[in-house]
Amino acid sequence: MDFEKEISELIIKAIDNTEINKDEIQSYLETPKDKTNGDISLPCFKLSKKLKKSPVQIADDIKNNIKIDNTNIDKIDNINGFLNFYISKRKVVENTINEFNNQKENYGQANIGQGRNVIVEYSSPNIAKPFHIGHLKTTIIGNSLYKIYKYLGFNTISINHLGDYGTQFAKLIVAYQKWGDEYDLSTKPIEKLAELYVRINQLCEEDESVLEECRNTFKKLEDKDPEYIKIWKKFKAYSLIEFNEIYKLLGVHFDSTKGEAFYADKIDEVEELLEKSGKLIESNGARIIDLSSEGIDTPCIIKKANGSSIYATRDLATILYRVRKYDYYKSLYVVGNEQSLYFKQIFAVAKYLGLDKKYINGLEHVGYGMIRLPEGKMSSRKGNFIKVKELLNDAVEKVQNIMEDRDIEDKREIAKQIGIGAIIFDNLKESRIKDQVFDMKEALNFNGETGPYIQYTAVRTKSVLEKAKFNPSKSEVDCSCLTDDSSIDVVKTIARFQNVIVSAMKKNEPSYISRYLIELSKKFSNFYNNNKIICDDPKTQESRLYLTYMTNITLINGLNLLSIEVPEKM
Ligand code: ARG
Repeated sequence: MDFEKEISELIIKAIDNTEINKDEIQSYLETPKDKTNGDISLPCFKLSKKLKKSPVQIADDIKNNIKIDNTNIDKIDNINGFLNFYISKRKVVENTINEFNNQKENYGQANIGQGRNVIVEYSSPNIAKPFHIGHLKTTIIGNSLYKIYKYLGFNTISINHLGDYGTQFAKLIVAYQKWGDEYDLSTKPIEKLAELYVRINQLCEEDESVLEECRNTFKKLEDKDPEYIKIWKKFKAYSLIEFNEIYKLLGVHFDSTKGEAFYADKIDEVEELLEKSGKLIESNGARIIDLSSEGIDTPCIIKKANGSSIYATRDLATILYRVRKYDYYKSLYVVGNEQSLYFKQIFAVAKYLGLDKKYINGLEHVGYGMIRLPEGKMSSRKGNFIKVKELLNDAVEKVQNIMEDRDIEDKREIAKQIGIGAIIFDNLKESRIKDQVFDMKEALNFNGETGPYIQYTAVRTKSVLEKAKFNPSKSEVDCSCLTDDSSIDVVKTIARFQNVIVSAMKKNEPSYISRYLIELSKKFSNFYNNNKIICDDPKTQESRLYLTYMTNITLINGLNLLSIEVPEKM
């Protein structure tokens, strides 16, 4: 039952004015912050203009004309021009349980997507360079968005757009040729390549001719020099071994892994199409698109003076490729905020590729803030970076230590679920746009607003159900047993689950789900502390067990959307 719809219909009948329709009313309805002001409220000032009356007068009139017999409303109040509706608690419980029962294990799922294709591009680290904690963040956000869209009925495609092209590889090739003998790449290759990268960058800074050598090497790489291609492939293979270990730990899978290099030979078409649009202009030997008419001051370079493609050209070729291959409804790029201007530029240039408008509208940069360690910013160019794999393993180890004296089998596996879950949750806890300082201790706090806390609540619900030998298919709920404050609080939170997922999808914001799970866990704790689940009255006990069961499923489904596993025990 959609209470907002019911209330809007009642109001419309009471107003009886053709200028105002049900949808308009529904858009004005709010949830009062203070529970004593009812469940749903209409701020009547929104109608003052059309009805030419004061809010208090409007509230009075509506209240006098509404008939609430045989509805789900218990009571209506008018306070200072606000009409407050109190929904029958029993009805709320009844409705929520009915809706839950329609879906059970799939609670929260929907088919809003109707099979439309959504691309989620995320992770996209640069090969031959360390996977840093910024890449960890895109991987975690992207993987969650992938699951959220899927849950809502979209056909979702996850893409890892590897940075496997550009001058940095030329630098590495030059470094490898100069000093390769000193390094054995068969062990810890990324670390060694990173060292080489630091070394060559230092040399480039000191010696302009080395930089020039690197530029020439890049040109040769672009022209597919077989020797250089061979070295490049070697770097790529080593990198993927390391990246895949991280993806495995995080439970990430990509439907497609294609690097920028794949698109490098598809840039001619981009140039031709832009040529046709008449927007491509020469500037100091380079070919560029002026974007001032789009309100963007920085032009977008399409081809450098030496004929090389750049990052942007390859991204434009990627858009063409994805339009044809996936006919996407949306194409999301989960990439740090520092590339915001860049994405504005390429999306603006994409308008000149002659594509159907829907493909341009479907492009979206999903940015996120900087993540730092307490010590300060890391940069792989200078060599002080944090190794993500070590960070993940460290979290697992710390959990294992915490659990040392607990009587649990398979501690390692459970510590992994908790440690990794903690890191994932910590990355999704705040609005993605915010900068964040990562703090391991905080992430692992079992009593804080953390992944382990939610996992713990899920495990607790499960153990309550197991102890009581609860069987959902045989359970009979008496809704009136769940109308006390702390039970109804849990019920109402569970009722909101699908709306939360939909909002998370619309704003590409997994943190809506993480915040929601914290709220549900806290409300469940409250319910658990205030009510004896196992009690003398069988009807009450069955009903409370059912609420515990609904909480359990909702927590599990919510955690799944964040890609966090639920341990057997904790
Ligand atoms: N490889 C880039 C980096 O590590 C991110 C790539 C983002 N995706 C894109 N289509 N440009 O910064």
